[in-house]
Amino acid sequence: ELNGAVTIVVLGASGDLAKKKTYPALFGLFKNGFLPSNTHIVGYARSKMSQEEYLDRVTQYIKLQNDEDKAKLQQFKNINTYQSGQYDQAESWIQLNNLLEANEMERHLGSPKDKNRVFYMALPPSVFIPVAQGIKQHVYHAEGINRLVVEKPFGRDTESSNELGDALGALFKEEDIYRIDHYLGKEMVKNVMNLRFANIFFAHAWDRQFIDTVQITFKEPFGTEGRGGYFDDFGIIRDVMQNHLLQVLTLIAMERPISTDSEAIRDEKVKVLKCIQPIKMNDALLGQYVSNQEGKPGYLDDDSLKNKASQTPTFAALALFIENERWEGVPFVLKAGKALNEAKVEVRIQFKNVPGNLYDDTARNELVIRIQPKESVYMKFNSKQPGLSYQTIQTDLDLSYHDRYTDLAIPDAYESLILDVLRNDHSNFVRDDELEASWKIFTPLLHAIDDPKQKLPLVTYPYGSRGPQELNEFIEKFGYDRSNTTSYAWPRQSMA
Ligand code: BG6
Repeated sequence: ELNGAVTIVVLGASGDLAKKKTYPALFGLFKNGFLPSNTHIVGYARSKMSQEEYLDRVTQYIKLQNDEDKAKLQQFKNINTYQSGQYDQAESWIQLNNLLEANEMERHLGSPKDKNRVFYMALPPSVFIPVAQGIKQHVYHAEGINRLVVEKPFGRDTESSNELGDALGALFKEEDIYRIDHYLGKEMVKNVMNLRFANIFFAHAWDRQFIDTVQITFKEPFGTEGRGGYFDDFGIIRDVMQNHLLQVLTLIAMERPISTDSEAIRDEKVKVLKCIQPIKMNDALLGQYVSNQEGKPGYLDDDSLKNKASQTPTFAALALFIENERWEGVPFVLKAGKALNEAKVEVRIQFKNVPGNLYDDTARNELVIRIQPKESVYMKFNSKQPGLSYQTIQTDLDLSYHDRYTDLAIPDAYESLILDVLRNDHSNFVRDDELEASWKIFTPLLHAIDDPKQKLPLVTYPYGSRGPQELNEFIEKFGYDRSNTTSYAWPRQSMA
């Protein structure tokens, strides 16, 4: 943990990410006493703003539950300062450094050892490198502790990601860099290792002999409204699959690390990623949403979209294969879409049929890890129909957090991750070699999608639907079996 005092510099403080995620998370940590007592926060961006305007802006998404929170918010404001400046001018960085030094003096931080500076880059990729350079040259405290937190996008394919990595690597040591993938801060994602490695009954059924297929699904009920400018350059695969869903897959598929040490965990992640073959065009189903009958707009109707003939996928289903002893032949199907019928992120592990089954028509076991909303883990299993019948029916073993842990407030992913930065725990951040291995899986497919000559098929689906009609056939092709499950419904589905 950090000794002495901390200065957290939020670069891009006037942006969306900062006000929606970074500041609410910083406040959450402050309120619960998790920021070191002598912490100061400095917002930095190009916009000229008064201190009042800055405070209003960065606190507008903070939810206050009671009077105590209101008082805390006032105290939180008192540890905040705003400074405007350019991203590519030495003079601006020197001014920022002067501000930090004056502030550290005020907090009686004479010795460099006491000075801990965390630079949180909530910035668009175009200014990433100039900012990192400016910081390194003018604001970095050579004798103190400096940590750099960066947010995606980390490039758009293997090559651009490596270029960015090299440029950053020339400035900062890997151990000082924290690449955020905020899915790694989510409670249920953090739970995957505990579920797998603290339960002997999962340990031995976790392979190709017992598991038939794995699905990792991300559904959002809204489109890219107003965000078309950013999104159109990236598409759903770069936006949430190459990072968030692949991270979940990695945790599900990796071997047991030798310890819970961050490098031990990341070593195993890299190993399994290197066993995944690049995705083949035939193993991909791509879609784009169109308007629906209730008048919800299609993707191409968005005003913020420049290219009205865009072929960018807003939906994708991709089958990945891991060529190692544990997983050969087991499809891992990633599905993600915008403008679907519900908000849901889950992992669904479908086990094989019981060999030589005594009972007819039994459904397969399925383990579902619901990441959001309403965190839960449930196992669909078969049981005797209660009463005089001997029939087997499908029911569940169910751990629903909101029933089981009634007083629990689950921290936001960003709170958990910023705390990890302060604690110097890299477990839930993306390492450089991990990033490279993950891009290699997606780059050939992404290049094919981006190449107009290749004309990869793009199917449509109406806004608010379950996705393209072709999806059922796609997931059945990769082994998912719906038979004998007709009467089963997870009872909490409707409560979500
Ligand atoms: C972001 C994507 O990384 O993750 C967004 O850029 C997406 O498009 C978001 O909506 C989803 O995060 P969450 O935490 O709301 O599931």
